[in-house]
Amino acid sequence: MKQKEIYFDNNATTRPLPEVRKEVLKVMGPEFGNPSSAHSTGERALKHISQARNQLAQLIGSDSSKITFTGSGTEANNMVFYSRTRDKTAGCQILTTTVEHSSIRKMCNFLMLNGVTVNKLKVNKEGLINLDELKKAINKKTSLVSIQWVNNETGVIQPISEIGEICADAGVPLHTDAAQAVGKIEMNVQEMPIEFLSLTGHKFHSPQGVGAIYCKDKSLLAPMLFGGFQEDGFRPGTENVPGITGMGKAAEIRHQNLPELISKMKDLRDRFETMLLDFVPGTKVNGDTKNRVCNTSNILFGGIDGRRLVKELDQYGVRCSQSSACTNFEIAPSYVLLAMGLTEEEAYSSIRFSFSVENTYEEIDSAIEIIRKLTDKLKN
Ligand SMILES: Cc1ncc(COP(=O)(O)O)c(C=O)c1O
Repeated sequence: MKQKEIYFDNNATTRPLPEVRKEVLKVMGPEFGNPSSAHSTGERALKHISQARNQLAQLIGSDSSKITFTGSGTEANNMVFYSRTRDKTAGCQILTTTVEHSSIRKMCNFLMLNGVTVNKLKVNKEGLINLDELKKAINKKTSLVSIQWVNNETGVIQPISEIGEICADAGVPLHTDAAQAVGKIEMNVQEMPIEFLSLTGHKFHSPQGVGAIYCKDKSLLAPMLFGGFQEDGFRPGTENVPGITGMGKAAEIRHQNLPELISKMKDLRDRFETMLLDFVPGTKVNGDTKNRVCNTSNILFGGIDGRRLVKELDQYGVRCSQSSACTNFEIAPSYVLLAMGLTEEEAYSSIRFSFSVENTYEEIDSAIEIIRKLTDKLKN
């Protein structure tokens, strides 16, 4: 019998919605075209891109002119760092945190090899940075502060508005990696003290391989690629029209019902956690439960090897993960959990479950039953 899949790994990626798939097929079929072509077929494709820009702008509360499409969240993050360091590498400082996504960690490693000073703010055991430490760490050489809005492993939300005020007072631009925040938090980015924001579509039911940068003042942005005049020259290369159109549709659907969708994901997550903590001894939630995004649950299963549990759950159709998808192939405990003060053993015993609007209460109940059985087995 084919096993029913219970997909609780939505921080890794989400399934594109049927309406999104329909739009994608349209621009891959009857409404195809190159947006740069100087004829009606090109104009038609360009219209799809402009519509997607408006749809995305609405979701994040921005003007569409501030949005540049990229090939991923990774590219968006890299491009912001490149923009703020390319003509002043020597002697310039970047301020970030110890819990950023690998697209920022590895970019920082590259920049350090090229003479940039990177200072990383520590987080407390709840996963939050200290704002006084941030104030003290900013200096005359700081060309960018980059702090994630929501952590991909724990869902912990950093106080981005307060962080933005501190940066604005110091005259330093703030970048936030909002890959796990967009579509899960109501935001009006234009009214916030944020200079750059990166996002990626596949966390809110768009196709993969498409992201964007919101940039308040585009004179601060620089292209990493060289070629045509797509995206006003900021991102040369023929646009991923299916991806962009799909992301636009996904953003529109999300925007239409955002408060209800957030509350649905939170209900699912809270039911999961309440049942799990009640029924499975030795479990504990990692990260600040008050400042946490609606869909994420990072659980410490005391005394259990989390890698083994993830594999066993997979056999029963329950998909979840130990850390982020980008670090799953590294045999190392989660650097995010270690940075929060967990021991290696505790980090290896922890698992991330992340829910989406497509999940159901029945799935939660079935998964809890399976987890109960498996944890009993693994403990014995
Ligand atoms: C916080 C965070 N930043 C950046 C990314 C990278 O996005 P993409 O997969 O589009 O490169 C991800 C994706 O996992 C993420 O969770």
